[in-house]
Formats: sequence, structure tokens, C-alpha cells
Amino acid sequence: MKQIKIEGKRKLTGEIKISGSKNSAVALVPASLLSNGIVTIDNIPDISDIEALNEILSYLGAKVTREGSTMKIDATNIKNIEIPENISKKLRASYYFMGALLGKYKKVQMYFPGGCSIGERPINLHLSGFEALGAKVTNNGNCYLVEADELVGTNIYLDFASVGATINLMLAAVYAKGVTIIENAAKEPHIVNVATFLNQLGAKISGAGTSKIYIEGVEELTGGFHEVVPDYIEAGTYVIAGALCGQHLKISNLIPKHIESLITKLKDMNADLEIGEDYIIINQKENYIPVNIKTSPYPGFPTDLQQPFTVLLTQANGTSYVEENIWENRFMHIPYLKRMGAEIEIMGKKIYIQGKTDLVGKEVEATDLRAGAAMVLAGLIAEGTTKITAIEHVLRGYENIIEKLQNVGAKIELEEI
Ligand code: EPU
Repeated sequence: MKQIKIEGKRKLTGEIKISGSKNSAVALVPASLLSNGIVTIDNIPDISDIEALNEILSYLGAKVTREGSTMKIDATNIKNIEIPENISKKLRASYYFMGALLGKYKKVQMYFPGGCSIGERPINLHLSGFEALGAKVTNNGNCYLVEADELVGTNIYLDFASVGATINLMLAAVYAKGVTIIENAAKEPHIVNVATFLNQLGAKISGAGTSKIYIEGVEELTGGFHEVVPDYIEAGTYVIAGALCGQHLKISNLIPKHIESLITKLKDMNADLEIGEDYIIINQKENYIPVNIKTSPYPGFPTDLQQPFTVLLTQANGTSYVEENIWENRFMHIPYLKRMGAEIEIMGKKIYIQGKTDLVGKEVEATDLRAGAAMVLAGLIAEGTTKITAIEHVLRGYENIIEKLQNVGAKIELEEI
């Protein structure tokens, strides 16, 4: 087992280059199954979630090679067999095999996906969308069989703008007969990334990035090349690190527009930011103004940045609150922040943070991916040593986090326990 050890109170200076988006890459990789040729995807992050997807691809018989951040996937000869539970439960995004295999072979059999324990995480919207396209869903315990004689385009209204359901339904509908319309679709940058990828292979998708997506079924998707969009959650995490302890910290290779909601809140706090076309330079400042945030689907404040942002709110002078509206169980980092000296009260789906409090290094746990990121940020500004266990959650989603932070002056290391 490994843990992260941080000696806090170092200034971060230099440059951190943002990697390809986890939540985009984990959709593009299964989506490549839909192609009848060889697909090359560049800017794939080196994270354990991608390894888990590769395991599923290889299990199905796809040929996958990886050189640096470039991955080549040849899924032309795969066998459409049941995906066993021990590999599908390694990550949430294994659910994209449902849409991809159903779309291509009209049949998929697999177990309920895994992922961070941040809420109940149902997939009812995915399944009812598949049914609307003409599929029959049967489940036996945790195992789902979804099959159809044919898939026919239709209008699907999502009760909630679910990222996973929007992408899965695009995947299932690319080969469906006629036109599928997804209404109240999610608008996250990874939705656009997946639609552009599929279009490059020959799909006919329009409207991605808006709440109404049109998918006109096609006969064939060919091979092609695509690039993963920069990770706006990774970018936001390091921008917050800069607000906490940066000294001319440059976060590069990002798309500032993707984190506009974060930038607005940082400006409201009176943060010191310089925003370029594809970079942000940030300096730590004293006397931050408290702000309130409410998480909501893109372009609202992302739930995935709520936990890291809470650490910054402990450094604002006064009371702030965070309202979590996407996941029921995303305050698992709070007891650990309190152990480090933060003053935070949980009241239902809101937390109230009383700042400014000095943080002190303690032994804490990364209960989920973004909680782990929050612990790292807290460790960076804490007095003394912070040790973070269960860091496999962090390594699922942040490429080279230790090296990236060491390169800008953090005293952080991975150690065996
Ligand atoms: N929901 C349903 N039914 C469904 C699907 C979703 O009720 O069939 C509800 C969920 O319970 C939740 C809300 O809708 O309350 C949003 O869920 P969504 O489907 O958008 O989330 P997801 O696709 O499971 C992705 C990311 C998450 C991120 C959310 C929201 C991936 C692999 N995961 O999850 O990322 O928090 O969108 O933006 O793309 C992370 O990176 O740390 C992470 C958890």
C-alpha cells in the first residue's frame, strides 16, 4: 500500500501542464469500439482508470497499443462477450461499454459499474434511453443484459442532464435507424469531445454542447484520429493550488472558458489571476473574501471542483457556504479537513465554512478522487506533515500528480506503508 506524504507551507512556482481530460478519455476509449477501423487517440492521460478500460478492451479481444500519450485501438475483431464484474466494477466509466456494444452489436451483457462512493449513482436514465431506442433491458442482480432486434431513432428527454446518459445514448444511437434527439442533454466539454470524435469517424451528430443533440444514424464508422480535450477539473484543481500557495504559478495547456465558473468565484474572492489564451498565472494572496457556491451541471460550478475549492474557502476571512446539488455523499473530506483545523459544519446538502483557519498536517484519507485532491491541497498549506492514505483514488484521475507538484516546489512524495 502507498500513501502520500506532504511537508506543507512551500510556495509553488513554475509551470504545471494540464493533461488530457479523464472524463473525456474514459468515454473516447470505449467509443472507439464503434469503429470498423483503427482509431488513434492522442493526449490520453496516464491514469489507472484508463488501464482499467484497457483491461476490458483486451478482454473483449481488441488490440490496444500505447506510446506515451497516444493510444491505438483496433477493435475490428472483438468478441461481444459478457464483461465480468471484477473488471467492470473497477470504474464508473465501464458503463460506456453498454452504449458502444449495444450500438454496434445490438447486444451487451455486463455488470453494474463501480466508481467513487459519492452517492447512489443509478443508471436508470441510460437504461430507459436504451429502451426508448428499442432495446430490452433484463437484469439479474447486478448483471444487465441489454439487447435489441434493431435500434430506431427517437426523442429522448433526460429528467436530469446526466453526463453518462448523454454520452451513452449518443454511442447507442450512432448506428440506429433514423434520427435520435436527446433533450435536456448534458453540455460538458467532454460531450463535445465525444461527439466531435464520432463525427470524425463518420457519425452525424449535431448540437453537442447545447441541451438538444441530434444523432442521425449512419451505416459505418471508419478509423480515424482524435485528441482528448484538456482536463478542466485537473486545471481547476491546480489553479486552486495556486490561489492557496502559488508564486507566479503558471497552469498551462488549459481552456479558460471551461473553468469560467471557477474563475468568476476566484475573482469574487479577490484572487490574483492573469488569464491567457491557454494558461492562467496565479499568485497566493492574503485576505480572500468569502463566497458561496452551488454545484450544478456545466456551465455551472462543477461538483468535481467543490471539494478542492472548500480548502480555499478555509482561507477566506468570514463565512462561506458550499451547496452540493449533484451527489448525495460528497462531503467525506470534511471530517478530515476539520481534523486539520478547519471550522466546517455540515447541514444537509450544504456546508458552512468559517475562515480563516490555519491548517495543521495530520493523517487523513482520500475517501474518493476529488476528496483526495482536496487533502493534497490542504497538505500543501498545512503546518508540518500530512499523510494521505487510500491514494489509489487520487491516482485514478490525476496524471503524475506527485511529479507535477514536485516540479513546482512542493515537498510531496509517495511512500510505501
Ligand atoms: N443520475 C440519475 N440517473 C442516471 C444517471 C444519473 O439519477 O441514470 C443522477 C446521478 O445520481 C447524479 C446526477 O444524475 O445525481 C448526475 O450524474 P451524471 O450521470 O451526470 O454523472 P456521471 O456520468 O455518473 C460524470 C463524471 C463524474 C462527475 C459527474 C457530474 C465520469 C466518468 N464521471 O459522472 O466525475 O461528477 O459526471 O459532472 O464522467 C469525478 O471525475 O470525480 C467524477 C465523479
